Amino acid sequence: MDVMLLVLILSVCGPVWATTIDMDYGGVPLWINRFLGEPSVLSLRDRMEPGWFRAVNTQSCPLECDCPIQWPTALYCEHRGLQHLPEGLPSRIQYLFLQGNALTGFNSGVFANTSSLRWLFLDRNQILSERLEPTLLSNLTRLVNLFMNHNNLTEVPTGLPRGLKQLRLAYNHIEKISPGAFQDLRNLTLLLLQGNRLKTVSEADFKGLPILNLLDLSHNNLETFPKHLPPSVQQLYLSGNDLTGLSEDCLQDFNGLRYLRLSRNRLKNQDLASAAFNVTSLVELDLSYNQLTQIPVVPTSLQYLYLEVNHIREFNVSSLCRTVGPTSYSRLKILRLDGNKMAYHQLPPDWVYCLRVLHNIYI
Ligand SMILES: *[C@@H]1O[C@H](CO)[C@@H](O)[C@H](O)[C@H]1NC(C)=O
Ligand SMILES: *[C@@H]1O[C@H](CO)[C@@H](O)[C@H](O)[C@H]1NC(C)=O
Ligand SMILES: *[C@@H]1O[C@H](CO)[C@@H](O)[C@H](O)[C@H]1NC(C)=O
Ligand SMILES: *[C@@H]1O[C@H](CO)[C@@H](O)[C@H](O)[C@H]1NC(C)=O
Ligand SMILES: *[C@@H]1O[C@H](CO)[C@@H](O)[C@H](O)[C@H]1NC(C)=O
Ligand SMILES: *[C@@H]1O[C@H](CO)[C@@H](O)[C@H](O)[C@H]1NC(C)=O
Repeated sequence: MDVMLLVLILSVCGPVWATTIDMDYGGVPLWINRFLGEPSVLSLRDRMEPGWFRAVNTQSCPLECDCPIQWPTALYCEHRGLQHLPEGLPSRIQYLFLQGNALTGFNSGVFANTSSLRWLFLDRNQILSERLEPTLLSNLTRLVNLFMNHNNLTEVPTGLPRGLKQLRLAYNHIEKISPGAFQDLRNLTLLLLQGNRLKTVSEADFKGLPILNLLDLSHNNLETFPKHLPPSVQQLYLSGNDLTGLSEDCLQDFNGLRYLRLSRNRLKNQDLASAAFNVTSLVELDLSYNQLTQIPVVPTSLQYLYLEVNHIREFNVSSLCRTVGPTSYSRLKILRLDGNKMAYHQLPPDWVYCLRVLHNIYI
């Protein structure tokens, strides 16, 4: 085979072999890097034969768990009604699966011998904030993924290990963030807090997250657009809150905001500053299920605009294009306007000059 062709095939297929998506933890998939020896839950599902694993694997393995020989550093203890962490966790483990049990808390020192831990999955338990000691996790210096979606936390855990890259706390009962909770998480790129009870965000709450990329605050009780968010955020999800508007400066501090979701709030045009979305880095803007009567002014760089189920009555081209010319036109590919008070024949004749590269319009 031609060497170039082989290189091409390898470079196309390489990433496919190397990474796969695993189960969906809090709505954002987890990418598995097989080159790092990261285990896959999906590939083992329905193929678990606990007795067989125990018979062929001579390594120590707590009785409550499975230790598949092909993932020597992983410990599978998920969905088995555990009320306490298994005793004597082997020090070799890097990947600990404990989701879907009945854990409410931890005894002190349970993680004393597991300093190699890289992933800790605690989704769908009933963990209470008062049963999490402040220093419980702080010695886990290699921990990169901490998943605690669907628990009973009322606060963001304190003493989080500084090497964390992903922290998933979606669907808990978190009401407030203690100041400095995220202070030293200089490697954190993903933070899920959707489905909690946050009402306000104060200045110190998100301090110390210099490379945060994705922040999900959907389905909380926010009444005003949160200020003082990390400027590095590129994907900001705020759907399902109680926002009524945005002022001119809400989005100005971000360095490169690309995806903004504001669906299912109570946004009205009169509370929306005309330059609120004047952010040229924006690629996708979701304003569906609000109370808008007009199309807000958006940058021409925008590619996806969702406005379905509002009260929009007219199509104002100037919201999408300030001027129309050889290089000045809207980059919109998808425009959704269905579920409004408008019909296709209401589109003004000049709309096609503005929306030159549109793939789909829904009215
Ligand atoms: C940690 O290891 C030490 C020494 O092997 C042992 O005495 C102790 O019980 C272990 N602790 C836990 C929580 O497993
Ligand atoms: C963390 O490590 C320090 C030093 O090794 C030790 O003194 C302390 O007891 C450990 N804390 C926990 C909660 O394991
Ligand atoms: C956790 O919260 C659920 C409701 O969300 C409740 O039914 C359950 O009793 C709580 N568990 C504990 C241990 O408080
Ligand atoms: C953060 O990530 C960098 C690069 O991967 C690494 O060198 C550093 O040790 C990490 N920081 C912590 C506190 O783990
Ligand atoms: C949008 O922002 C640019 C600078 O980024 C500025 O020049 C322009 O006047 C703004 N437009 C509006 C309508 O505020
Ligand atoms: C369209 O929007 C522009 C700027 O927002 C406004 O000045 C103009 O009056 C609007 N046109 C119609 C027909 O509503």
